[in-house]
Amino acid sequence: MGGAALLLALHLLLRRWILRKPRSRLPLPPGPRGVPVLGALPLVGASAHSNLARLAARYGPIMSLRLGSHLCVVASDASSARAFLKTADAQFAHRPDPISARDVSYQRQNLAMSDATPTWKHMRKLCSFHLLGGKALADWAPTRRAEYRRLVDALRRLHDAGQPVPIFDLLICTLANVVGTIVIGGRVFDDHGDESNKFKDMLSDLLTGGAQFNVGDFFPSIAWMDLQGIRSKMLGVHKRFDALLTRLFEEHQRTRGSRRGAPDFVDKVMANKVSEDGATISDVNVRALICDLFTAGTDTSSVVVEWTFAEMLKNPAILRRLQTETEAVVGRDRLLDESDIPKLPYLQAVCKEGLRLHPSTPLMLPHFSHEDSEVAGFFIPKHTRLLVNVWAIGRDPAVWENPLAFDPDRFLPGGKGERYDPLGSDGNFGFIPFGAGRRSCVGKLVGMLFVQCLVGTLAHAFDWELPEGEEEIDMEAKPGLALPKAVPLKAFARPRLSPAAYV
Ligand code: HEM
Repeated sequence: MGGAALLLALHLLLRRWILRKPRSRLPLPPGPRGVPVLGALPLVGASAHSNLARLAARYGPIMSLRLGSHLCVVASDASSARAFLKTADAQFAHRPDPISARDVSYQRQNLAMSDATPTWKHMRKLCSFHLLGGKALADWAPTRRAEYRRLVDALRRLHDAGQPVPIFDLLICTLANVVGTIVIGGRVFDDHGDESNKFKDMLSDLLTGGAQFNVGDFFPSIAWMDLQGIRSKMLGVHKRFDALLTRLFEEHQRTRGSRRGAPDFVDKVMANKVSEDGATISDVNVRALICDLFTAGTDTSSVVVEWTFAEMLKNPAILRRLQTETEAVVGRDRLLDESDIPKLPYLQAVCKEGLRLHPSTPLMLPHFSHEDSEVAGFFIPKHTRLLVNVWAIGRDPAVWENPLAFDPDRFLPGGKGERYDPLGSDGNFGFIPFGAGRRSCVGKLVGMLFVQCLVGTLAHAFDWELPEGEEEIDMEAKPGLALPKAVPLKAFARPRLSPAAYV
């Protein structure tokens, strides 16, 4: 009897195997074979964006590689980015589940790491409508203006004290205060105060921890060992962050009455928790979303501004030309304002060039598919991670002449980059620092404004000088998810406008 059952089972298995539908006749994209167990991990290393660009030069703009136990496809030029982010956008609109992000994303109940679920869609919609898009952007302009002015004050104080400006740190404080004010109704960094210092440390732990290379992300079966201790460290950061957010959130709910008539973003989310088609945002979603806005909304723009300044300090003629333009339009008696930007084409070109050469998220965030698909003549099995190398796309010599040079002129009328729009309105995928498609950056309008207004204000209001003996700027990037300068930029700022401008 036992033998007959075994035979029957074997027969059924064999039949299923013979009759099975081939998953696809198409091949996987080409790519390096790598080594047993690790796959191509040793080839990718910590500077993944540049190593992957080198591999793409050999294997092609769409390649596949195994990283530990995960299959990845990488798109490295404009047409392959279009194939994934336009043609196959819906299939690849999900996110993988990296272990190092699990706790800080509240088990992926945030916006940035969630799959493309109805709740994700509703959170995105509320962000665009009440915080990061059109009318909301205009409504929050006074908050941004007040924080830019505080930044200028801080720079003047450093000048008076004869100290150099730690540009990146000050930018993070400025943007975290903007986000804090519009999202939860309060600034988070002050010059003094235990609370704000704690917040600053947590934010920086969260950003650096999230960008670390974690073995467990590539080998889920041994992730529980937490060999590098990253997960326990991130859990600690998450618990501290959550305790603070929970308290802020509870206080926020208690003081709701005092904001009647002037609701902040969280008030608006709480009032619209259920979408028209029934998707519901929970209190945990709200906390996870606040966390997203602080991390995605501060680091990214600060990275781009710091790099753009480093490039201009290396090329002082560009800085001088920008100062001439801003002075001609804004004058010497007031600070630059967001409303001046449309009249400042060179400023716009400088910022585009900063974003092209130094996109803050060089491989975007990883995308993920839940179904088999066929893209550009290749078979991509389900559960494949997709990386789009926007760093390589912005440096593609087939598109950009002299791609490594910092040359804003390329974006001016008559330049070859004139038709490229970083916000994606050109639809040609050759310059996508904010990503593209349904998962593209939900904060791109405000991100672009932050970058333009901060670069413009700092160039217009100050002359800049590198510390003596440090004239050679280190242009190495710190490896990770975001791409900040490895050595933070420090320079002396000297006010250059009439005293009335700073009052
Ligand atoms: C220069 C500034 C910025 C750059 C270069 C940038 C870039 C990006 C990129 C490349 C992505 C991933 C796109 C993808 O995976 O397809 C992204 C996602 C995201 N960004 Fe930004 N970003 C910037 C500013 C901001 C700001 C200011 C905010 C909010 C205040 C923000 C919020 C987000 C969020 C929430 C996501 C996740 C969207 C989703 O998964 O649906 N970003 N950003």
